[in-house]
Amino acid sequence: MSCDGEQEMYPFVMDEELFADTFSEESIYRFGSEELKISQVYGANLGVAAPVWDAALWLCRYFERPSFDLKGKRVIELGAGTGIVGILAARLGAEVTLTDLPHAVPQLQKNVSANEPPNGWPSVTPTVLPLTWGLDQGQFPSDWDLVVGADIVYLTETYPLLMDTLTHLCQEGATVYLSSKMRREHGTSDFHDNILPQRFDCQLMRRDHTQNINLYRATLRKTEQTQ
Ligand SMILES: C[S@@+](CC[C@H](N)C(=O)[O-])C[C@H]1O[C@@H](n2cnc3c(N)ncnc32)[C@H](O)[C@@H]1O
Repeated sequence: MSCDGEQEMYPFVMDEELFADTFSEESIYRFGSEELKISQVYGANLGVAAPVWDAALWLCRYFERPSFDLKGKRVIELGAGTGIVGILAARLGAEVTLTDLPHAVPQLQKNVSANEPPNGWPSVTPTVLPLTWGLDQGQFPSDWDLVVGADIVYLTETYPLLMDTLTHLCQEGATVYLSSKMRREHGTSDFHDNILPQRFDCQLMRRDHTQNINLYRATLRKTEQTQ
């Protein structure tokens, strides 16, 4: 088959970017008079870590409320994906550590670098580290103020691993905020209604019926603190 012939038959110019294996799409998140530019890197085997999920936007809006003071708080985000939640927390003055599976770390690092304000981060530059649930938590301290996660409750096989990670990170009294898309087929309710309460005192803080997203707050029970 001749290339020349094909070009004659199909009179459009192929956009190399469009057909590239990897491409990135930028989304803008506005808060007050500021904005975040978040790259979503598709086609780099990032899978569900590539996009910004609705539950993340929802958690951002919750943290943005003037009554929620993040200044100086030590925050770790699990399954951060693009990092939008943790980056917003850092822009609002928190000391943030963003974590995800190792393959998502470059995307997180890219988004952190792209969102440094002109006068520098209000607190410290966010740290980006790989953290695979059930495996790596021992390398992290247990004295956080907040442990946060958006749309990370969706794989039943990871629930015991996530529990071990949360239990370790919350030994010194951290408050957990989980914003979850309530996917029946993925047992998200089972995690929040039956698994998390085995060790944590849990509260449903908010529910968005339209988007089927719940926000939970949880603290590790004193009897589960072993360290
Ligand atoms: C649905 S995405 C949510 C991403 C981001 N939090 C958001 O809401 O935009 C789920 C995230 O959990 C991460 N994840 C899944 N299994 C994990 C595991 N075993 N350990 C650490 N992270 C995991 C994925 O890499 C992905 O970034």
